[in-house]
Amino acid sequence: MKNTILSLLLLLAVTAANAQNTATLTVPAKAEQIISRHIYGHFAEHLGRCIYGGFYVGENNTKIPHTAGVRNDVVDALKKLKIPNLRWPGGCFADTYHWKDGIGPKEQRPSIVNTWWGGVTENNSFGTHDFLNMCELLGTEPYLAGNMGSGAVQELADWVQYTNFAGVGPMSKLRKENGREKPWNVKYWGIGNEAWGCGGNMTAEYYANEYRKYATFVSDWNNSGKLFRIASGANGGDYNWTETLMKIIPKNLIEGVALHHYAVINWDKKGPSVKFSEEQYFATMKSALHMEELVQKHSAIMDKYDPAKKIALVVDEWGGWYEVEPGTNPGFLYQQNTMRDAMIAGSTLNTFNNHSDRVRMANLAQAINVLQSVILTDEEKMLLTPTYHVMEMYNVHQDATYLPFTVQSADYTLGNEKLKAVNGSASRDKNGATHISLVNIDPKNKQQVAITIEGARYKNVLGRIVTSKTLQDHNTFDKPDVIKPVAFKGAKLKGNSLNVELPPFSVVVLEMK
Ligand code: AHR
Repeated sequence: MKNTILSLLLLLAVTAANAQNTATLTVPAKAEQIISRHIYGHFAEHLGRCIYGGFYVGENNTKIPHTAGVRNDVVDALKKLKIPNLRWPGGCFADTYHWKDGIGPKEQRPSIVNTWWGGVTENNSFGTHDFLNMCELLGTEPYLAGNMGSGAVQELADWVQYTNFAGVGPMSKLRKENGREKPWNVKYWGIGNEAWGCGGNMTAEYYANEYRKYATFVSDWNNSGKLFRIASGANGGDYNWTETLMKIIPKNLIEGVALHHYAVINWDKKGPSVKFSEEQYFATMKSALHMEELVQKHSAIMDKYDPAKKIALVVDEWGGWYEVEPGTNPGFLYQQNTMRDAMIAGSTLNTFNNHSDRVRMANLAQAINVLQSVILTDEEKMLLTPTYHVMEMYNVHQDATYLPFTVQSADYTLGNEKLKAVNGSASRDKNGATHISLVNIDPKNKQQVAITIEGARYKNVLGRIVTSKTLQDHNTFDKPDVIKPVAFKGAKLKGNSLNVELPPFSVVVLEMK
């Protein structure tokens, strides 16, 4: 009897360790949906050391190599990511920012107090020219977040004219006086940020009506009809917010509706960024995976008012949010980045890819030295985080054709709770290569995934993986390469069957030709 029980337990343990998952990759004869590269966007706020020390070290810096004050190492790293767009200057900061403070000779620019983030003095040395020229250097599209909370319609209209008008006018004259002849032609414009909170504590109805007014004057000065206006969106599951915006705002005034959702355990007790327990990991992943439901439900509301899906859902703030690193300024939101963040990034990007019919833009918060950053800096030192490596591996999906990929996943269980262990997404690039990205969030068990391929035959499969020894592993300035992608050998292709063995807590991207 004792032996039978022991054998049964052993069998159960082996089964759990090799849990079987099934998936189907469908390659339709006519696949048309594109995964917009803009899903892979980033966010740069005047917050802590994101701009100052992160992107920008000043024109007079002699220690750190730079171009017009922007760090060369950061530019190189972000170019490798193929960063498609960059949101600036906030966040909450955007609704306190007056762009005219940040133009003209730097020594004459006024100082302001950054009331949202640490109460530090902001000298406005990084302003509109600095940001837009930096975007040109990065080869990325700027996304300017306009100030509705403490600004004015005229101020925002002037900003558009300043950045975009090629003809003769007061703002284009000012731009030329400040050294820039040609307009930058900024396409993406946010009308306020978190209007339900730091952007003015507005009701949805009030915001929607204000939006109509602001959006009317965010007009295209070059008459190219290409401005993309993004309304400040819901806080997580506030579906009434999205419904109200879709109802009140006429379709000719809006191109995108935003959504913010952070993977956070508890706003009052966020837990540490590195020394977290498995319970805290589970809770973070539960919150991160909630993105799937949020995207589905907000999209369903948008479908009612916009069945042709003309208006994009723009998740312009997402990522893991923990307590700040011990000993750092609580207002600077500086946190480390571990394998947990790689799990959040891989899973969230899979959700966005799978809903790319509606989610056509997103911005990870935030690029450098803040929340779920892709880069950390310390004076002249710089490191790439696990999140960076996931985003770099996933950039094969940018502007690729979406391929339906469905997963029937085993569970990752902790106590009485369970989450889906495996998630994934797939696309075909313009050279005909198919990519599948897979995540196993289970920290204890490897997962076998049996994938059936319908509609295509491939000859070979290659792959890369991000994983490590422990979930808490991270890169440091002394050991910057603890986590980086390596070749993956765990995928076997036979006819229309692809079998993949995903190690515990791993992100894999496969390429099939
Ligand atoms: O990303 C940090 C802050 O989080 C942003 O400024 C704000 O929009 C959000 O609440």
